[in-house]
Amino acid sequence: MNPSIRVKTFKIDDRDVSAREDETILAVARQNGIFIPSLCYMDGLTPIGACRLCMVEIKGSTKLFASCVTRVEEGIEVITNSKRLQKYRLRILEFLFSERNHICSVCVSNGHCELQSMADQLGLTHVRVPYRYPIQPVDATHERFVVDHNRCILCARCVRVCDEIEGAHTWDIMGRGVEARVITDLNKPWGESESCTNCSKCVHVCPTGALSEKGKSTAEMKKKQQFLPYLTWIREGRT
Ligand code: FES
Repeated sequence: MNPSIRVKTFKIDDRDVSAREDETILAVARQNGIFIPSLCYMDGLTPIGACRLCMVEIKGSTKLFASCVTRVEEGIEVITNSKRLQKYRLRILEFLFSERNHICSVCVSNGHCELQSMADQLGLTHVRVPYRYPIQPVDATHERFVVDHNRCILCARCVRVCDEIEGAHTWDIMGRGVEARVITDLNKPWGESESCTNCSKCVHVCPTGALSEKGKSTAEMKKKQQFLPYLTWIREGRT
């Protein structure tokens, strides 16, 4: 370990833990077997705090903190589960489900979807806010892959994996609010992209059915994500 990096000692759910000062609360919680829900976070990619599901409380503060982007501090006392956190996390899931067209029963990723599993795990039974369902396109111009914007939760995993691991930076996000969507090559159809390397990493990191492979049945849509920590390790070893 770099000797200039200090170790911090603090508590998570009343458990004494210690970690390097450059680690996040979510990373330390996971190392200690403590569950914090997350959707946009993925091992091997830069955390961006987009989904806010991983929020935690820190004693003495009224604010909630996205644990995937909050560094550890000496002496803090982190609470990962409370009535207040459960309520907010359910509300976030409701917003995600209501914003686009997440009908699990007709989705290619039914049974292999992180949004669906998270709703199941956190006990979401119904959505109490009006559905938005903006009209979003489906781009099937690529010879191997499809992007269905109706299933996208804007976690930006595809953007990050394409930029940080593949080095192509084909993906980006355009627009704001409910109109925001992922785009390829400054909003060209995916099939006309000049930067896409056909590597399929974006498809495999997508937590929902937004990115999928053509010709795959629902049962075959399980994503392969094990390559990420390995690729990050290789990349960091070289820099
Ligand atoms: Fe932390 Fe999404 S996992 S904000």
